[in-house]
Amino acid sequence: MPMFEDYEIAQATDKTPQVTKSNGADTLAIPGDDGEGPIEVPASRSSISEAAKYMHNLSASPSMKERRGSRNSFGTSLPIPRSKRQSRLSSVHYPADESGRPTRPGMPPVQPSRAILASQVQSIEVEKVKKAKNMAFAFDIDGVLVHGDRLIPEGQRALEILNGDNELGIKIPHIFLTNGSGKPEKARCEQLSRILHNPVNTEQFIQSHTPMSALAEYYKTVLVVGGEGYKCREVAEEYGFKDIVVPNDIVAWDPTIAPYRVFTPEERASSRPRDFSKIKIEAIMVFSDSRDYATDMQIIMDLLRSENGQFGTIAKDPVSQRVPIYFSQGDLLCPTEHWTPRMSQGAFRIGLEAMYRALTGVDLERVVYGKPETATYKYADEVLTSWMEELHGEEKLPENIYMIGDNPASDIIGGNMYGWNTCLVRTGVFQGGDNDENNPANFGVFPNVLEAVQTALRKQMGDDFKMHFDERINPVLHGDKSDAAAII
Ligand code: G3P
Ligand code: MG
Repeated sequence: MPMFEDYEIAQATDKTPQVTKSNGADTLAIPGDDGEGPIEVPASRSSISEAAKYMHNLSASPSMKERRGSRNSFGTSLPIPRSKRQSRLSSVHYPADESGRPTRPGMPPVQPSRAILASQVQSIEVEKVKKAKNMAFAFDIDGVLVHGDRLIPEGQRALEILNGDNELGIKIPHIFLTNGSGKPEKARCEQLSRILHNPVNTEQFIQSHTPMSALAEYYKTVLVVGGEGYKCREVAEEYGFKDIVVPNDIVAWDPTIAPYRVFTPEERASSRPRDFSKIKIEAIMVFSDSRDYATDMQIIMDLLRSENGQFGTIAKDPVSQRVPIYFSQGDLLCPTEHWTPRMSQGAFRIGLEAMYRALTGVDLERVVYGKPETATYKYADEVLTSWMEELHGEEKLPENIYMIGDNPASDIIGGNMYGWNTCLVRTGVFQGGDNDENNPANFGVFPNVLEAVQTALRKQMGDDFKMHFDERINPVLHGDKSDAAAII
């Protein structure tokens, strides 16, 4: 298991959301003192709004120059779940064939003899097996494996090789590390399994808001923003948040809050209005892309400017009373089925930051999870380590990790900072020349994910490594003579 340094783990005495002073910096207190709560990972990005660099000077009020101490200096560290992931076996999703039967990608139907054959080959090829267990892949999804709901064909083949269609018949560990969002993990894994024709297990899957489950230990009543319908409410419930409010609940309570919103009877019937003037919302979680910028921005802005998160109030000092706001990821653009990438959560956040600054004269402090934030990569280590245990019974982190991504500003910069090998593909956001100028991929630029996987496999396993499992192979003849004798 990867270890966390002492300085990364703050001490605290109770479970109320609060700020502690540690080494002169304000940090959120760790719930519980029993070593069981979340792990706080120091932030690798500034917690201060980026709006200034996108705005004309005249937009900023002079008063913003006075940076005031804030009780919400929560951006100095990001909590991630501490515990190992649970119930792995119950969450394997195999894609189904036309008849509805589960299939294994690139492989014939499950036959005990194939598994026996693979294990015989592996027991002979000890050195190669060692190498195969000492490497792993972290796949970005959008722009690498899929475009929206459409498969990038090379992705299917790359995963088949890693799922055992290779000369050793061995599974090479890989996780999915996406800034995507908006659905419970299980539902998204089932959908991806179908699209990719490969099994995607929730225990090898991290989407942008997955590590934010740690925040459920800090806040009771939260506003959850973004996503289709009420899916993000479902996500937050699964993460253990106790009291979840979504913008529709607020519009149903007071429709005048969003003057341009057309609120359908169905939306009204499915929402959960309460008297929000009497409820203190403790934090705002933007989990996914807003489906209604005008309503969501208005409601978030009202809450950020309120007295301690109560609608119907305006704080005298907006900074000291400000409700903490978290975003699940910061990508400006996302490749989709459209011919050019679409604006993503980062664009929404920068718009919000600019409005906040224009209205209050101060910069918004906020936390942004997702790639390239260090906390997300640390969490990926945890997931990869426990996935290694699942695949190979060895709870350790492989030494050679390859991140394959299409976005230099998130996948590549994050992987480079974290010491991974980075591969940039040309099937998504990156459309440049030889390499990205600002955040070059250290392992190279590839036309697609299959080329990247094959090149990495050759580097680790040798140029002659075969990316196909031959079921007709005779393991006795396959190995050298001494090994063969041992098997006989
Ligand atoms: O930027 C939005 C998100 O869909 C990107 O996902 O898989 O490219 O990290 P991914
Ligand atoms: Mg991508």
